[in-house]
Formats: sequence, structure tokens, C-alpha cells
Amino acid sequence: MKKLPEVKILDEKDKILHTKSKDIPLDKLPEEIGRIHNLLDYLEMSQIDETREYYDLRAGMGLSYIQIGIPYRIFVIDYEVEEGKFDRYVVVNPKIKSVSEEMVYIGEGEGCLSINRPVEGIVPRHARMTIEAYDEYGKQYTLRVREELAVCFQHELDHLDGILFTDRIDKKNPFKGKDTYRAI
Ligand code: NI
Repeated sequence: MKKLPEVKILDEKDKILHTKSKDIPLDKLPEEIGRIHNLLDYLEMSQIDETREYYDLRAGMGLSYIQIGIPYRIFVIDYEVEEGKFDRYVVVNPKIKSVSEEMVYIGEGEGCLSINRPVEGIVPRHARMTIEAYDEYGKQYTLRVREELAVCFQHELDHLDGILFTDRIDKKNPFKGKDTYRAI
């Protein structure tokens, strides 16, 4: 069995998850390449049945640096585009360029590797967005994302600002927006 990279994910009880992360100076980025790739490997192994079961993992497709206790504005997404085929995104010091007016939400609810309890409710997200960021080699790029991937990006962008998806669910009426926004 492929060896699982050592990744210790903090739980929501840890206050650091509610802090705002800072941009990483780009000259420090080369030191982080190994760690960034480990996080992507971990996510991929959590989504493949064989390794998820063997290592008793929860499936996840995104992780932010703050979830491993490092307050840099870096996150990764490993998105399964078709059975066994994954697209990898490394997002460093991102800036939001534009967002759609249309809002959506994940019908079955969002999840987070730092939240180890079932949470019900609607998390409104933009259906599409464009960001500008750097990859792990310091190369700048612009990316437009939509639908589930856009939700995933917004979830991770929130982590960089110390916001958990549970913070975005209306406390009094968790299903507020059900008829206003589009379920995906
Ligand atoms: Ni999360």
C-alpha cells in the first residue's frame, strides 16, 4: 500500500482555525513545495476507496494551511473530474477578481476535514468566480471556476480568513435560502 503522508488536521475546537492567515513571502515558497504535494497526495488517497478504507480516512477534496496550523494563505484542492482522474490546484496568496451574482449551495451540505460532526444547513456560495493566485513554483495564474469546484474554492478561501462553513449557516433558520438559491 502507498504510504500515507503524515498530515495532522486540526479540529474546529482549535482557535487557530478562526484566525486570519497572511500572504506567504514568495521567496519562502520553495521550502513549502514538499508539504504542498504531501497535502495533495493525502487528499487524493482520502478519495480513493482502497486507501481511504486502509488508512481509515474521511474523504476530502480541499485543505488549507491553517488546518495544519500554519497561518499562510495557501490551500490545495484535489478534484475528481472522473472516476480515478484528479485535477490538482495549488492556490497561493489568492485574490478574488470577480464573482457571479448567481448563488448556489451544495444540496447535501458542505463538509470539512476539520469538522467532525454532522452539520445541516445551507451555505450560500457564488456559482462562478475568477481568482488570481500563484502556484507552488511562484508562477502567477488566473483561473475561472464554476459550480462544485467554485464552492470548494470559496470554502477554502474562507479558511484563509478564519471562517468555517458552519459560520455561514443561519443559526435561527439553517435552511434559509433553500428556495432562493440553486441546489447543486
Ligand atoms: Ni474545510
